[in-house]
Amino acid sequence: MKQYKIAVIPGDGIGTEVVAEGVKILEQAAELSGTFRFSFEYFPWGCEYYCKTGKVMDDDGLDKLKKFDAIYLGAVGAPNVPDNISLRGLLIKIRQGFDQYVNLRPVKLLNGAPCPLKNIKRREDINMTVIRENSEGEYAGAGDWLYKGKPQEVVLQTSVFSRRGTERIIRYAYESARKEHKSITSISKGNALNYSMVFWDEIFREVGREYPDVKQYTYLVDAAAMFFVKDPARFQIVVTSNLFGDILTDLGAAIAGGMGLAAGANINPEKLYPSMFEPIHGSAPDIAGKKIANPMAAIWSVSQMLDFFGEKDWGTRILMALEKVLMERKVLSADFGGTASTEMVGTEIRKQLASI
Ligand code: NAI
Ligand code: MG
Repeated sequence: MKQYKIAVIPGDGIGTEVVAEGVKILEQAAELSGTFRFSFEYFPWGCEYYCKTGKVMDDDGLDKLKKFDAIYLGAVGAPNVPDNISLRGLLIKIRQGFDQYVNLRPVKLLNGAPCPLKNIKRREDINMTVIRENSEGEYAGAGDWLYKGKPQEVVLQTSVFSRRGTERIIRYAYESARKEHKSITSISKGNALNYSMVFWDEIFREVGREYPDVKQYTYLVDAAAMFFVKDPARFQIVVTSNLFGDILTDLGAAIAGGMGLAAGANINPEKLYPSMFEPIHGSAPDIAGKKIANPMAAIWSVSQMLDFFGEKDWGTRILMALEKVLMERKVLSADFGGTASTEMVGTEIRKQLASI
């Protein structure tokens, strides 16, 4: 029997509440399949940990995580801790330390999911995968803060686009497009960012010559944002930089059911390090502790985890179970107009999974 070792970092706020439901789904999938099983080890890192110890995660955190097959993260962040400390101290440290250079975000309208766009009704109208560069770009953390507090104060936030980094994310996206028989769209901003994005566009064309079978499109990020709303059906596989991907995938989440339904995987495709799976929402301090958070995003991310392990059949079944719950509309959380608790939604999804 295959055994997958999972490091669980529930984090803060609703992170802990939704991760509990994701773990139960994994356990159920393992039990139903009879061919794989999971072991879970929990790490108490996050903002509460920071307030006690001065660290968001242990100094040797990456060493501790290295031996796992995957990391399952809830969310980190709390009102009393600056966000750059929590995000840099854990999320970005893991993404960069484990070279999780692919951020894979499905933007797909499940049947029954609420869509705020007037003319969009069908599943096929929103069915894209956004592949966001996740290791460098605008979030490389390079720059300087000169003459702090003086009248001549200057800050520099330097984007880093290496040939290796740019080429590998674009190539990953082309490979996905080829495998899935989909078109590819590169989103950049070469008209204003005259170094980084001109370079990005050039590499997109260069690598694209190896994929004459893949239909290729390019958009400026501002136009792309407009078309995400006006005509999302034109996007299939989307490849973009760290910052643009961050922003566009929140927009993507909004058109495909909201933050309660948006998942994201941080992948090291070579499997040299563990990959990390998470809902893309934060710790939601406004509803934390009320037990009303929607666990669907966290559950979608365990479906991505199973896909990544090669258990695609189970990844798909979990999405089908989610879809059934959405279509029946009997057990929904408050963000979808229901009254069910986090745990009730999780239980209902497991009930559906058992019958698929
Ligand atoms: P957020 O995603 O936590 O919340 C935004 C809004 O969406 C809130 O009104 C919240 O109630 C709602 N929401 C989010 N997830 C939901 C769910 N599963 N069910 C129902 N409603 C949900 O973003 P916000 O407020 O900007 O950030 C809060 C904290 O989370 C900050 O400290 C931030 O730094 C952190 N954060 C952490 C992330 C991570 O760990 N990956 C990602 C984004 C934010
Ligand atoms: Mg974001």
